[in-house]
Amino acid sequence: MERLDKYLADSGCGTRSAVKAFIKARRVTVDGAVAKDPAMKVGPEHTVCLDGQALGGKQRLVYMLHKPAGFVTANSDPVEKTVMELLPEQLRRQGLNPVGRLDKETEGLLLFTNDGELLHRLISPKKEVAKVYYARHEGDAAEEDIAAFSQGITLRDGTLCRPAVLQRLGAGESLVTVCEGKYHQVRRMMASRGMPVVYLKRISEGPLSLGELPLGQMRQLTEEEIALLE
Ligand code: URA
Repeated sequence: MERLDKYLADSGCGTRSAVKAFIKARRVTVDGAVAKDPAMKVGPEHTVCLDGQALGGKQRLVYMLHKPAGFVTANSDPVEKTVMELLPEQLRRQGLNPVGRLDKETEGLLLFTNDGELLHRLISPKKEVAKVYYARHEGDAAEEDIAAFSQGITLRDGTLCRPAVLQRLGAGESLVTVCEGKYHQVRRMMASRGMPVVYLKRISEGPLSLGELPLGQMRQLTEEEIALLE
């Protein structure tokens, strides 16, 4: 259950103050009765109408951002620029939060959603979503490195990583697929094999790929794409 004014605003019919004005103007009904109190509690079991039109409640939003380097994945930061600054104002007001994180200097696919349940499911270690990174690095990936990744790398601080896939694309260029999200994981895995990363970009996450989305831009996922995440 949530406040009527929040329910109306989340349904996309106006700002919190605009919807209060709709209520005052007797344009909102709850289960057929004119609503008078913006603080009254409503939930999915109620039929809320504006001007006789039923509202669907909060719309689930999922967006994909092509994150540029130089932005930290956080809702706010006293010093750094955050990924939230890349969201258009109207989306910032919709309660979108980043799903997982990319390091400040990492580019690529970063999801945002206003659905807390979906967010927690996607970042749960149990879910084991495969994430693919394109890395440019010092050195060259050799057969022994590929084998070490497939067995599970032990980082320099002793942390054990799950088996991962290292695919050599060319000299100093590889694809890395991991199913977990430890701090600086790909950079630390590569460093532990003597191949420090100089450029890192996430190109896919589970069934979703960055595709042709330009750097710094975002796009809304379709219902079909969201269904693939479930
Ligand atoms: N691994 C990293 O090292 N950095 C990221 O941003 C994501 C995965």
